[in-house]
Amino acid sequence: MIAGVTGSLFVISVNGWMNYPGGFVLENGAAVDARPWSALFGNAYFWHEFVHMYVAGYIVAGFLVATPYAWGVLRGRVSRYERTALAIALSAAAIASMVQPLIGDWAAREVAKQQPVKLAAMEGLARTTAGAPEHLLGWYDGDKVVYGIEIPRLLSLFAFHDPNATVQGLETVPPTDRPPVNVVRLSFQAMVGIGTLLAFLGLVFLYVRFRKGRLPESRWFYRAVVLAGPLSVVALIAGWVTTEVGRQPWIVYGFMRTSEAVTGAHGIPIGYGTLVAVYLGLAGAVAWMLLRVSRAPLEVPGVAMSSAPDVPPSRSPESSRAR
Ligand code: HEM
Repeated sequence: MIAGVTGSLFVISVNGWMNYPGGFVLENGAAVDARPWSALFGNAYFWHEFVHMYVAGYIVAGFLVATPYAWGVLRGRVSRYERTALAIALSAAAIASMVQPLIGDWAAREVAKQQPVKLAAMEGLARTTAGAPEHLLGWYDGDKVVYGIEIPRLLSLFAFHDPNATVQGLETVPPTDRPPVNVVRLSFQAMVGIGTLLAFLGLVFLYVRFRKGRLPESRWFYRAVVLAGPLSVVALIAGWVTTEVGRQPWIVYGFMRTSEAVTGAHGIPIGYGTLVAVYLGLAGAVAWMLLRVSRAPLEVPGVAMSSAPDVPPSRSPESSRAR
C-alpha cells in the first residue's frame, strides 16, 4: 500500500507540474532558482488530479470486483459469499462514483482557469463565446460541433458557474498550439458520460440498500453492474487521454514542446520491449492464478462457498446475515 500510494502520488504530482509548471524561474532559456517542494506539491493541478484519480481508483476497483459477482448472481449464484462481496465492493464504488462528478466539476473549473485551450478542445469550442453552449455527442469538423445536441449556456455555467461567462475558444492560439480536438473531446465525453451512468448506478444501490435494507433485486441492476466494471476502466483511461492529449503540443505547458522532449537515447525499443514483456507476463500469471482459484475456490471459515438456489438476494434465507 505504501509503495502504491507514494508511487502514484509522485506520478500525479509530476503530471500536475507538467500541466501547471512552477517552482522555478526561467532566465535566458534556463530553469534557475528551483524549488522542488513547491514544484511537486505547490502546483495548482496537484490537488484536483490527486483527489480525482484516487476516487477513480475506488470506482474502478469497486466495480471491477463487483462485476464477476454480479455475473454470478445473473447465473443463479446468490450465496452469502456473492452477497457479501457485492455489498462491500458496491458500497465503496457507489459512494466514490457519486462524489466523482463534483470533483470532476472542480477539475474542469481549474482547467478553464489555467488551460483554456484544453477546455476549448474538450468542448470543441472554435471561437471565444459569452454564454457558451455545451454540445453532447457530435463531431468537431474544424470549425464547430456537428450532429451534437446543443444545450445553451451550459458550458459557461459548468466552467465558471455563471451562464453568461465568456469561454475562450481555440482560435486564440495558432493551429500549431492546439491539441487534436476530436481525440480530447471524445475521451472527455466518454469519461463524463460513463461517470454519470456510474453515479446513477451508485445512487440506485445506496437507495435500495439504505431505504429498503437489502441488495437490489432487479436483474437489470446486475446486468448494469456487469458492464460497470469494464466501463469504469474505459472512463479511467479516457480521463488520462483527456489530460495528456489535451495538453498537447506541450509536455511542460507553455515552456517545452513534446517534440523537444523526445529522447535521442539508444536502446529505447529494448527497454520498452522488456516492459511490455514483463507486463504481459504479469497479466498471464494473474489470469492463470484467477482461473485456478475459480476452479477450486479457497475455503474461508464461516463463509459458504457453494452456490445457493436462484433466488433474489433479499429473499434467500441468509440475506439478513449478509447485510
Ligand atoms: C462524472 C463526471 C466527471 C467529470 C466532470 C470529470 C472531469 C475531468 C476533467 C475536467 C479532467 C481533466 C483534468 C486535467 O486535465 O487536469 C479529468 C481527468 C481525469 N478523470 Fe475525470 N471526470 C469525471 C468522471 C471520471 C470518472 C468516472 C473517472 C474514472 C473512473 C475519471 C477519471 C479521470 C482520470 C484518471 C483523469 C486524469 C487524471 C486526473 O486528472 O486525476 N473521471 N476528469
